[in-house]
Amino acid sequence: MPDDKTRIALIGFGAMARSLQASFYKSGNDFAVGAVLVPAEFAPAPNELGGLRLFHDVSELIDWRPSLVVECASHDAVRDFVPALLRNGIDTIIVSVGSLGDKMLLDNLELAANEGRSRLTAVSGAIGGLDVLRSARSAGLRSVAYTGTKSPKAWTGTPAADAVDLASLSQPTVIFKGNAEQAARLYPKNANVTAAVALAGIGFEATGVVLIADPHVTTNRHRVQAEGAFGSFSIELQNAPLPDNPKTSWLAALSIEEAIIRHFRFIDV
Ligand SMILES: NC(=O)c1ccc[n+]([C@@H]2O[C@H](COP(=O)([O-])OP(=O)(O)OC[C@H]3O[C@@H](n4cnc5c(N)ncnc54)[C@H](O)[C@@H]3O)[C@@H](O)[C@H]2O)c1
Repeated sequence: MPDDKTRIALIGFGAMARSLQASFYKSGNDFAVGAVLVPAEFAPAPNELGGLRLFHDVSELIDWRPSLVVECASHDAVRDFVPALLRNGIDTIIVSVGSLGDKMLLDNLELAANEGRSRLTAVSGAIGGLDVLRSARSAGLRSVAYTGTKSPKAWTGTPAADAVDLASLSQPTVIFKGNAEQAARLYPKNANVTAAVALAGIGFEATGVVLIADPHVTTNRHRVQAEGAFGSFSIELQNAPLPDNPKTSWLAALSIEEAIIRHFRFIDV
């Protein structure tokens, strides 16, 4: 049932997945989530599922023949489940874009999609401007730089906490300067946006990354600047949090919805 809008399945059932399900339910449009895949150790209580089918094993989900699977779980979930889905001809959207920093996994996903004649789509997530980078790169991009600014509290539990006394910062402070490969490794919670920028533009090695702890900000800020034959561009986002989960940007959840709607559209405008 490749175009059945009510046979969408999710991997994971956390903040993003629940926000998506609730949004489809509220909007009264033709889209509906029918099933979720969550390993037994992370499984939600049956009363939380509101009638959704629950699978623990990817082969059960493949047998259910979803029209589309949307990964809203983790890097491990992309590695563990998505190749099998693609190989079995099931189109898949992923939100854990940082997983694609693993070149072997990326190659494996491409092979699987080719074998299954299926399609993998990575959402733009919490970041924007990726269309510009993709369009501009064939004429040559000279530089792409990403700057991520969050409150000091948001950097606790990262290497920044060992280098700086986050609690006593009174000024914006650079906590990391390097490339996207190093940033994704040292700051995995930021890896989705840095990976999205690197993949759309000039790759992990060449993409510059600066991370800042700023005691004056209350939102997560993302800036992308690029220069090349096309000219130059700069974009800055100040993302509001998802109402049910302050750690996730609302825009990231909305980008999944948009990617699903586009997937089923005949006219892509
Ligand atoms: N692209 C972006 O800009 C962007 C932005 C925010 C979050 N994310 C990513 O989206 C994913 C989901 O975010 P969230 O806020 O919903 O997180 P969350 O922690 O609220 O929910 C994750 C869910 O996935 C389940 N899970 C964990 N490991 C799993 C596995 N191996 N297989 C299946 N299910 C598994 C958990 O039990 C939980 O239900 C994370 O990987 C996060 O890094 C991407």
